Order: sequence, then C-alpha cells, then structure tokens
Amino acid sequence: MAKENPTDLKSEQDVSKYFIPPDLKKAKKRGKEDVKVIRDFDIPEDMQKIGKGKYYLVRTYGCQMNAHDSETMAGIFEAMGYQETEEENQADVILFNTCAIRENAEDKVFGELGRLKHLKLEKPDLILGVAGCMSQEEKVVNKILKSYQHVDLIFGTHNIHRLPDLLRDALFNKELVVEVWSKEGDIIEQMPKVRENGLKAWVNIMYGCDKFCTYCIVPYTRGKERSRRPEDVIAEVRELARQGYKEITLLGQNVNAYGKDLEIDYGFGHLLDDLRKIDVPRIRFMTSHPRDFDDYLIEVLAKRGNLVEHIHLPFQSGNTEVLKKMARKYSREQYLELVNKIKKAIPDVVLTTDIIVGFPGETEEQFQDTLSLVEEVGFDSAYTFIYSPRAGTPAAIMEDSIPEEVKKDRLQRLNDLQNRISRERNEALKDQIVEVLVEGESKNDPEVLSGRTRTNKLVNFKGDKSLIGQMIDVRITEPQTWTLKGEIVAMPLKEEILDVANG
Ligand code: SAH
Ligand code: SF4
Ligand code: F3S
Repeated sequence: MAKENPTDLKSEQDVSKYFIPPDLKKAKKRGKEDVKVIRDFDIPEDMQKIGKGKYYLVRTYGCQMNAHDSETMAGIFEAMGYQETEEENQADVILFNTCAIRENAEDKVFGELGRLKHLKLEKPDLILGVAGCMSQEEKVVNKILKSYQHVDLIFGTHNIHRLPDLLRDALFNKELVVEVWSKEGDIIEQMPKVRENGLKAWVNIMYGCDKFCTYCIVPYTRGKERSRRPEDVIAEVRELARQGYKEITLLGQNVNAYGKDLEIDYGFGHLLDDLRKIDVPRIRFMTSHPRDFDDYLIEVLAKRGNLVEHIHLPFQSGNTEVLKKMARKYSREQYLELVNKIKKAIPDVVLTTDIIVGFPGETEEQFQDTLSLVEEVGFDSAYTFIYSPRAGTPAAIMEDSIPEEVKKDRLQRLNDLQNRISRERNEALKDQIVEVLVEGESKNDPEVLSGRTRTNKLVNFKGDKSLIGQMIDVRITEPQTWTLKGEIVAMPLKEEILDVANG
C-alpha cells in the first residue's frame, strides 16, 4: 500500500516533515479521491504467536469511537496471542488510546505518561505506546519526542491496522516508532475485535468528519467522512444479532451524513430502515448533527420497533450568531423546528445534547439564549463543556476576552438548570413501567442489578443475577436526577418457558 507519509524515525529527528499537522486550508482541500475498502486484513505470520504468555493493557480516553477502536486494538493483540490485563505491572505492552477534544483530556494523558516513566525504567522491555487522536497532532508528537522519551510507539487513528508491523519494529529495533498518516486511511474491514461485553456492541457506520465546526479538532484527527458500505454494516449487525447481542450502537461523528460519500442513493434513513428488520432488540446511534437530519430519517425512526426513541442531538449554542461563528450551519430557529418535527413524529422521544459555554466572544445575552433553548426543548440530559481552544482550528485565534471565572459561572448555571430539568423529566416516569436490558450488578451494591431503558436511562432494582442479559419490565418507584430506582414487575422468560414446556 503506497501511502503519503508513513515513516519510522528516531527520537532526535524533527517529525514535522513526516506528517501534516492540523491545517484548515489543507484539510479543507482534501480530495475526492476514492476510499478503498480493504478486505484482506491479516496478522503477519511472524507476529501471530509473538504475544504468547504476554499481556497487553489498552487505556482509553474520549468518545465511543475511540472506545471501539480500543476493541479493535484488543482484537489485534489477542490475534497475536496476547492476553488482557488490568495491571500495569503485569503488562508487556501498555497503549494509551488518547483524545484531543479538550485540553484537559490531553493533560491527563501527559500526566499518566509521566507517571509510567519509573515502570519503564524498572522494566525496559515494556512497550509503551500512544495511539488515538492526540497522535494526529504535530505538537503532541513533538512534545512526546522531547519530554517523554520513554515512549516506544506512536501511531495515529488511520494506522490501527498496522499495529502488528509497528509493534514488530518497536520490539526488535528498539527505536522509537512513529507512524501517523495525515491523509485519512482506507476502510479496513474484518479486523478482529474484542467487544467489551456480550450484550451491547458498537458498530462503525462511518469514519471521519467533514463539518469543520470552528472549535473542533476531530475533522483533523479523524480525516474526511468515509461511509462503510451498507452491505458490510448490515452483515456485521446480522452477525452480532446471531451471536446474541441485545443492543447495537451505530457510530459516526455525524451519522446523518452517512452515505453522502457513496456513489449510491442511500442515506442514514435507508440504512436504519434496513437494519430495523434484523432481529436484534435495540438499535441506537451516535451522534446526530442537526444539519443532516432529514424528514425521511424522522419517518423511519417513527416506525420504532428496535429503533429506540432516544436521539442525541448536540446543539452547542442557543444563539444564532454564536452558531454562525461555530460554523454549525443551522440557526436557533432551525434547531427548534427540527426538534418540533421529531417530537411530533415521536411524542415520547428522549433528547439529549452537547453544549459549549464560553465560545470566544460569547456575551451574557447570547448565553441566556442557550439557557432558554435548554428550557424550551427539555433535554433529559446534556454533556456540557467550557470551550477549550484547539491549536490549528479557526476558533483558537478568535478574540476571546471572557474571563475564566465567567465561563465557569456559566457552566454552573447551565448545569443547575439542566439538573433541574433532568430531575423533572425523570419524575414524570414515576410509577411507569419501562423495559430494561439488565446489564449487571450495581457498582455500589451487589444485591442490586442495573440496566438501561430504551432511552438509555440507568435503572437500579433488586433482582437475581441470573437476569443479567435479559429484557425485563421494571416499575419506576424512585426517580432521581441521574438514575432511576425501580422494582421488577415482569420477567422476560415467556418464550423460554414456552420452549421448555414444548420440550
Ligand atoms: N460529532 C459530534 C461531537 C463530537 S465531540 C457532534 O458534532 O455532535 C463531542 C462534544 O465535545 C461536542 O459536541 C462539543 O460539545 C464538545 N467539544 C468539541 N470541541 C470542543 C472544544 N474545543 N471545547 C469544548 N468542547 C468541545
Ligand atoms: Fe466536531 Fe462538528 Fe464534526 Fe462534531 S460535527 S465532530 S463537533 S467538527
Ligand atoms: Fe476525542 Fe478523538 Fe473522539 S478527539 S472525542 S477521541 S474522535
């Protein structure tokens, strides 16, 4: 595979010439050249047993996309004979799968890398690697080269399938191995995956993002939008259903843009309409961009069945001026209109969102528009963030005179409001019966089970461990702000009991 800029190099070298740092102009010019679908992923023969008797540890930061990439890394490690460990002391390879979305995400990783220096000194054969979105940033790679020389391996989000080869270089050449392709990779099908549990599975439907919101690093770290072929997604979901998975989450930075890059007239609505016919109890998706949420998609979602009535629909700011500066490409009114359309088609829909406060130049008045939008829509929950400048993005050089305390105060006021609304939304569920997928024992009390509703709300209730993995009906007795307490009203076993009765 001839690629633009893969390379291995030693720590003293300047890496800037080997990969292209986030650059809006270059990134926006990214071409229309075809994305190849590679279907013959294999572990090289000499690496198939390299991990026998050895252990790997992958530590994940960031979004579900990253968490799912970690499952692929785990799959590749296990295909090389490695076993998983949670213990740093036991690990022969430790990989950090990193996130670059906000500065504090990066700070955490640097802290951890620093902390592991002593382990590397004690165990020189330990391979310490950095993967994920931070590796796609030139300044991060340079910082690691300069100040974290105990790192052995750095690879980017487009290089995951190269892990066996890169690991070979790190193990046998004893040199720092850096491979970060700035040009987005091809779509690699059939990579091995170790999924976190046997009930819920993530499935990528597309990679990358072409939206270029002015605050966001993702289009640079993940490359251009590339959709997987529908037949590949459908085959994967079918296979997961066959294996007994109960819930599938379709992943993409902007799932509503699914299919736009394919030469066929087939979008996210079409994909969901095909997937809903598969015998799997629940299908959800992350994340929806309001801009590409078309009427056909709403029509398909309204058919329900295994398509759950939960939509994560980030709005970021309730003020049209700020939205324009963010390049979100919709106005406050358009967002509200979309929400109304969705609510009309799916009256019991649960909406959740992402919000940024303190975008450069945001006035108190503009922030008030965010509060009023939160009030008007009535989200069940929200992820709320203080704007964090990301080098190389347009917003990072916008004038920003809002003091940090003001931003913190806005975040607090926003959270107070959202918590009140979350509580009210949950209170409305009191005495209602909801379908819960039982996922496991509660973290705090082994007598208590926990699971999630179709709308992704966490429910705790007393019950026997044997129920894990089942769908059961639970009456909500005690709604709280972030979780619900309930009691079991009906078991799911009708079919199984019938099966037994029928011999
Ligand atoms: N693709 C998704 C979001 C992915 S990032 C979407 O467009 O909805 C998850 C969230 O992080 C974003 O929705 C945004 O709220 C937040 N975020 C992204 N960049 C940020 C930044 N520079 N500072 C603060 N929050 C940011
Ligand atoms: Fe970032 Fe915007 Fe793309 Fe979401 S849609 S990943 S916020 S650029
Ligand atoms: Fe973070 Fe990369 Fe996801 S920046 S949020 S891990 S796409």
